[in-house]
Amino acid sequence: MPKPILWLRCEKKEFERRAALTPTTSSKLIAAGFNVVVERDEQRIFDDSEYEAVGCTLVDNNSWPTAPTSTPIIGLKELPESTDPLPHTHIQFAHCYKQQAGWSKVLSRFHRGGGTLYDLEFLQDANGRRVAAFGFHAGFAGAAAGALALAAQRGGNELGLLTPFANEGAMVNNVRELLGGSGKGVRALVIGALGRCGRGAVDLFRKIGLEENDILKWDLDETAKGGPFSEILEVDIFVNCIYLTSQIPSFVTHEQVIAAGKGRRLSVVVDVSCDTTNPFNPIPIYNINTTFDKPTVPVDVGSGLPALSVISIDHLPTLLPREASEQFSSDLLPSLLEFPERETSRVWADAKRLFLEKKAEAVKAEGL
Ligand SMILES: NC(=O)c1ccc[n+]([C@@H]2O[C@H](COP(=O)([O-])OP(=O)(O)OC[C@H]3O[C@@H](n4cnc5c(N)ncnc54)[C@H](O)[C@@H]3O)[C@@H](O)[C@H]2O)c1
Repeated sequence: MPKPILWLRCEKKEFERRAALTPTTSSKLIAAGFNVVVERDEQRIFDDSEYEAVGCTLVDNNSWPTAPTSTPIIGLKELPESTDPLPHTHIQFAHCYKQQAGWSKVLSRFHRGGGTLYDLEFLQDANGRRVAAFGFHAGFAGAAAGALALAAQRGGNELGLLTPFANEGAMVNNVRELLGGSGKGVRALVIGALGRCGRGAVDLFRKIGLEENDILKWDLDETAKGGPFSEILEVDIFVNCIYLTSQIPSFVTHEQVIAAGKGRRLSVVVDVSCDTTNPFNPIPIYNINTTFDKPTVPVDVGSGLPALSVISIDHLPTLLPREASEQFSSDLLPSLLEFPERETSRVWADAKRLFLEKKAEAVKAEGL
């Protein structure tokens, strides 16, 4: 029997330093009998030598199109736009199952090439929960960005360029230092605190030194009474981490912020959920996604009132590429070990069924 292969391709998306396979998970796959091929990639947070050291076979950057079509290609983010047919099997986030812009063009590349897509967003366990997701580090990094914005605001400045941190410790130290040594005294409210992102946000606040009583943790029970919530105006940082599924009353409104006048404590809102353009966005006080080079957008509060800014970056885990990759990849590992039996393994068979459904819709939409 030939060894099963997984080919880790490079990432081409700007700022993306994360990887679907880490040296740790690669070494576990190799121990289980896989041949792991890794494209050299300077953009990746892990050095090529770290993969080489655990026994991966290193190949040229972006050379996957030359791999035998029977070789499964694994990556994280979508491939660069193109009309080239895709004959391989790809495991990745493709962002084309929810009618996103260009969805049918992406899927028609698989149709024309005869390839298969296993979308990482839709790999689910028997209870319908995603087998691997980046939420925890999104919340963690979002809360850190919020604390950094608060520190900047206290110094009369706006938060400047955010760049990925080498590791979690470096991020925590940086935030503590800019808050004058500790986050003690800062008050924060996390809504969606029981979810992946929410747990990450709470963890960051603990690690930078907020007192437990100063971290308000809300989930469905606490918001059941319906917003807007005056409690949000009484903390320094509000982090929204909910998974929005339907229309709900706003958590905080512009009118409420203005009416609070000088008595408002709220300085920074971090919208990790980023339902920015969703008509049901429960934080209708801003309307753009912010970016690493301009992380905050000011809320128009009129003159003479304390500043209020919003962070709404939709790829926060990129700020912690090492830990975010390690966690995601280790959560994915049990499923990857089943990949050679993908025709019968439930998680992969379900994902393939979904791909075939979506591909058929795309074929119809494109008139192929
Ligand atoms: N900004 C980013 O970089 C980034 C990265 C990953 C995920 N996200 C987004 O973050 C959101 C949360 O993701 P997750 O993986 O943590 O989801 P999750 O399902 O693990 O957690 C969501 C939590 O929100 C709670 N919730 C839902 N509706 C609520 C309400 N009305 N009031 C209070 N609590 C409510 C749920 O009970 C749950 O505990 C999603 O929208 C996801 O797309 C953003």
